[in-house]
Amino acid sequence: MVDELDDIFERFIHSKIFKNREKLLPDYIPDRLPHRDEQIKKLATILAPALGGSRPSNIFIYGLTGTGKTAVSRYVLGRLTKKGGDNIVYIYINCRQNDTNYRVLAELARNIGIKIPFTGLATSEVKKRVLEGLERRGKIVIVVLDEIDHLVKKSGDDVLYFLTRINEQLSNSKLSVIGITNDLKFMEFLDARVKSSLGEEELVFPPYNNKELEDILRKRAAEAFHEGALDNSVIPLCAAIAARQNGDCRLALDLLLKAAEIAERSGENVVKEEHVRLAQKEVEKNLAVDVIKTMPLHVKLVLASIYVLTKEKVKNLTTGLIYNKYVYLAKIMGIEPVTQRRISDIINELDMLGLINARVVSLGRYGRTKIIKLSVSSNSIEEGLKEDLFMLGLTELTI
Ligand SMILES: Nc1ncnc2c1ncn2[C@@H]1O[C@H](COP(=O)(O)OP(=O)(O)OP(=O)(O)O)[C@@H](O)[C@H]1O
Ligand SMILES: [Mg+2]
Repeated sequence: MVDELDDIFERFIHSKIFKNREKLLPDYIPDRLPHRDEQIKKLATILAPALGGSRPSNIFIYGLTGTGKTAVSRYVLGRLTKKGGDNIVYIYINCRQNDTNYRVLAELARNIGIKIPFTGLATSEVKKRVLEGLERRGKIVIVVLDEIDHLVKKSGDDVLYFLTRINEQLSNSKLSVIGITNDLKFMEFLDARVKSSLGEEELVFPPYNNKELEDILRKRAAEAFHEGALDNSVIPLCAAIAARQNGDCRLALDLLLKAAEIAERSGENVVKEEHVRLAQKEVEKNLAVDVIKTMPLHVKLVLASIYVLTKEKVKNLTTGLIYNKYVYLAKIMGIEPVTQRRISDIINELDMLGLINARVVSLGRYGRTKIIKLSVSSNSIEEGLKEDLFMLGLTELTI
């Protein structure tokens, strides 16, 4: 055993593939971000007045997932604060992790040196302390609220309202807000006044195309891998797969990293196309599992019904059959079932999420009906539903 472990460790230390694996991890911000020159320059131009002591405009940044919004913002703000020294404070808050007004304010306070307990204070008291703290600092503070849609959907726009109005109450300091989202519909949730003050400037991040992703991957691969560690087809394949998925650079990097890990684990010195294919399967499975885990209960139950029927080898699944199974499962669990009409909608939603495939077929003079099939593996479904089904005592029934 000891020798086996030593083998594993040695293989890692003397990797023939990785020169520096960290350079591919999601948190690493590379020195160069190709194909984002326009966004980098525009952001820098909007923020530059901070260097002369004026408050930069608030900025609203949007674009699909993996288009470089977080990386570009952190890069530009890092450079700005380096140049501005002590006079500019930059605070980065991820609103997926901090999705309540209280937590965002507490995070903000912590970053300007004020301690706020995790809970217990009234929000108005935290606001007061933040205000006093900012005033005492006498600086230009730039707050980045990344994935801001999570905060607004969960807790409304109270903090945004507070932060975009705060300058009226500050005389010694100035504060700007940068809001980032990949959810374009989220703007509808915002109060008109918040919308207009947050959107003083707007910055759009278009998806990367195939060639751009290839370029980006090549540069990042040069830092992360030994020369010759990648077969020629590997980068174009990762780029092509990610380009089809809305030009998501995170996916492209994830595929490359996973493919290399698969190759390394199987003791090979070169990453090949087959490793990318295996990585793609793994990534797709993880995506499906994540989607399933975050679905509302009734949607999960409908998916569970389709899954159970499939396991029971029932052919030609129609909405009616699924509805009956759903009602049965809901009753076992003591949950009030929703209407068949709502189940139809849920089936459409599952279809749009790519978890099932609903095909309309003609029944001649009996009209038309939908035939439904699972389009992800049973494994993904089992893993995605595991916790809920276990909690609800359904494991016996389904697996
Ligand atoms: N132009 C680029 N050059 C090099 N790496 C990039 C580039 N654009 C994005 N990346 C990398 O791709 C990954 C995803 O980028 P980022 O996290 O900035 O996406 P995002 O737009 O914030 O997505 P989301 O909306 O999901 O938060 C990161 O690892 C980032 O470093
Ligand atoms: Mg991001």
